[in-house]
Amino acid sequence: MGSAARMDFSKLGHTCVIGLQWGDEGKGKIVDLLMEHFDLSVRYSGGANAGHTVVIGGDKFALHQLPSGILRKNVLAIIAVGAVLDPGVLLGEIASLRQRGIDITPERLRISDRAHVVFPYHRREDMLAEQTARAGDKLGTTARGIGPCYADKVSRHWGVRTCDLLRPDHLRERLATIVAYKNAVFRSAYESREVFDAQVLADEYLALGEQLRPYICDTTALLHREMKAGRRVLFEGAQGSLLDIDHGTYPYVTSSSAAGGGVSSGAGVPPSVIQSSLGVVKAYSTRVGAGPFPTELADVTGDTIRTRGHEFGTTTGRPRRCGWFDAVAASYAAMLAGPTHLAILHLDTLSGFAEIDVCVAYRRKGRLLNEFPADAYDFSEIEPVYETAPGWAADLGACRSVGDLPREARDYVTLISRRLNVPVGIIGVGPGREQTIFVEEL
Ligand code: GDP
Ligand code: IMO
Ligand code: MG
Repeated sequence: MGSAARMDFSKLGHTCVIGLQWGDEGKGKIVDLLMEHFDLSVRYSGGANAGHTVVIGGDKFALHQLPSGILRKNVLAIIAVGAVLDPGVLLGEIASLRQRGIDITPERLRISDRAHVVFPYHRREDMLAEQTARAGDKLGTTARGIGPCYADKVSRHWGVRTCDLLRPDHLRERLATIVAYKNAVFRSAYESREVFDAQVLADEYLALGEQLRPYICDTTALLHREMKAGRRVLFEGAQGSLLDIDHGTYPYVTSSSAAGGGVSSGAGVPPSVIQSSLGVVKAYSTRVGAGPFPTELADVTGDTIRTRGHEFGTTTGRPRRCGWFDAVAASYAAMLAGPTHLAILHLDTLSGFAEIDVCVAYRRKGRLLNEFPADAYDFSEIEPVYETAPGWAADLGACRSVGDLPREARDYVTLISRRLNVPVGIIGVGPGREQTIFVEEL
């Protein structure tokens, strides 16, 4: 660790911030911190299922659709092609930020003309699918319509993009076909008697489209023009690598490419453009919703982490499941994302434990596994193998340098870094912007 290259934030090229667990790692805080050194803030995947928290001087902001970098002055924020857009949520977020003195104009925010739009029938489908699934098959989604919207995008027959909101006749025709199909599905598959009216929806979404018109453009072309002009881009991952549609703990995943690979397709940039990436982890693990979680602590220790870390969903308010750090899962995510540095957050939350466990291997039927399991059934047979580290008692909230940390806390960070084989760039000791340690040496 000591020999790791120091991270010089002011000199970073285009960089992405990727969660290496099941989401809520603290990506919002890291984007806000790094944004000082960047010009563009880009969300490229997911939608209003995300909830990114930024705390500035005691003021708390929760961003769902908007890139977190928008909170900094002079930043151009982009919602790129790979994200899905819920216009009502976005406009609500813009209005609420304006009320708090953060001005959002088309000079500061652009939305891809190719991003798919989330409609009320997507949210309904999300809810009905969850309500009617057998107990063990429920995914515990955020009910934001994300899965159905991405499914319609991929099916091609039913997808609607932001550019479609700007062409009235076309949108009316398209919604007439789509809504007839959706209503038929709701009636036959879910015995739902509520139906959507295509014309009412078209009126509503054409009006929303008019409000969004000044923001909608070809963000891929814009991004490339800006990069050519020398401006630096910070790409903000949503969700976490273990929720990735391809690489995550399927089917208990989200519907987008949340692991490192998503940035290129989602933003429309070649992979070679990304010069560094920050893998964000918490010093323990959390998960909201259903699915495998080998280190989950369904006991008083888990409750203690939840209480100390305020582990309740930013989007849904649900209590997050809590457990020890899973170095097997995070190493798998690091392998996919190839982070140049780690940001380890919530180190402060672990103060007060006499001992802290870290899962360093998975055992199945007496044998150690070499690979990350493919499905939930495999996970049900897994036993985590723990290494136990000594804890520390001191409150870390006021620590501002590695030297301020108790030796045990420093060793714990080193342990995670060694297990993931990635140097540490940032340590979080509280939600506030200032509660951050920029690591020079461990
Ligand atoms: P994101 O979705 O990855 O942006 O993360 P969330 O905002 O959903 O959840 C992270 C939570 O942890 C938020 O409430 C943050 O304010 C908070 N947070 C971030 N870093 C730290 C830290 O180092 N210590 C503590 N105690 N809280 C943190
Ligand atoms: P951020 O960006 C944590 C989880 C849901 C559910 C699964 C599928 O704040 O880290 P979805 O609504 O996407 O179909 O739900 O994914 N999930 C998240 N968990 N943080 C998120 O985003 C999440 N976005 C989705 O809880 O388990
Ligand atoms: Mg979150």
